[in-house]
Amino acid sequence: MKVTVVGAGNVGATCADVLAQREIANEIVLLDIKEGFAEGKALDIWQKAPINLYDSRTIGSTNDYSKTANSDVVVITSGLPRKPGMSRDDLIATNAGIVKTVTENIIQHSPNAIIVIVSNPLDVMTYCAYLNAKVDSSKVFGMAGVLDTARYRAFLAEELNVSPKDIQAVLMGGHGDTMVPLPRYTTVAGIPVTELISTEKLDEIIERTKFGGGEIVKLLGTSAWYAPGAAAAQMVEAIVRDQKRIFPVCAWLNGEYGMKDIYLGVPVVLGKNGIEKIIELQLNTEEKALLEESAKAVKSVMDVLDNMNVNA
Ligand code: LAC
Repeated sequence: MKVTVVGAGNVGATCADVLAQREIANEIVLLDIKEGFAEGKALDIWQKAPINLYDSRTIGSTNDYSKTANSDVVVITSGLPRKPGMSRDDLIATNAGIVKTVTENIIQHSPNAIIVIVSNPLDVMTYCAYLNAKVDSSKVFGMAGVLDTARYRAFLAEELNVSPKDIQAVLMGGHGDTMVPLPRYTTVAGIPVTELISTEKLDEIIERTKFGGGEIVKLLGTSAWYAPGAAAAQMVEAIVRDQKRIFPVCAWLNGEYGMKDIYLGVPVVLGKNGIEKIIELQLNTEEKALLEESAKAVKSVMDVLDNMNVNA
């Protein structure tokens, strides 16, 4: 299996490192526009192989897409990260042009690749990649829910003083402040979380989750990378190993949840064909209202992209 990661910045390099470390692909290409940058990161990851004992070959490329040819999966992390005070939506103008060019180059060399978008604003950059890839929407989707649920699960594990491994959760909606964590679908080793935590505390954790990315931007002056990189790698693993894992993924909706022509976070089954199924939960009125509000927020940024005319 061959996996390409475009963008050798913090998120892309972390993703490539996790892919190599866990031998998720035997060939990993890291590509960046900055001269020598991807080569340097790839070489460093390769030199760790004899120490941490893996054999995934990691190579770097300065914008030479021929090196990415025939990739099975491509992760796109290119674009500027947030600075303090910025929302993810503030990045749209710069990152849309970048994601468009990258997607075109990728599809030219790997027409059958499954594409996982990580660039922000996530839902709209996934839409941008879909418009430019011109392939089935089951093969173009975004990484957000795996990261957002990881944050939610980490906060819950800390509060309950239990292993994060035992916390299962679904979260829907856009990758922004309107995301919808779903307490009704959150369990701790099968026990509904509501039996273990007060409503007030749970609400606090939900609020913290919604602003989880921003919390890190405030602390670091730039956006997170360990959890985002690992989250993207976990999605790649589900695809290349055909695991049929159920993850919240930013997916193109075609009538599911009563919505059409929008990219939004929903639970899906991920396997070798990409999104193999979108799971439709029976949301209650309150959950549905939150999801619709989130969809509205995403749609308004999709409209901004449509009006920018960056797409072919
Ligand atoms: C975050 C960025 C990667 O949520 O969107 O940290």
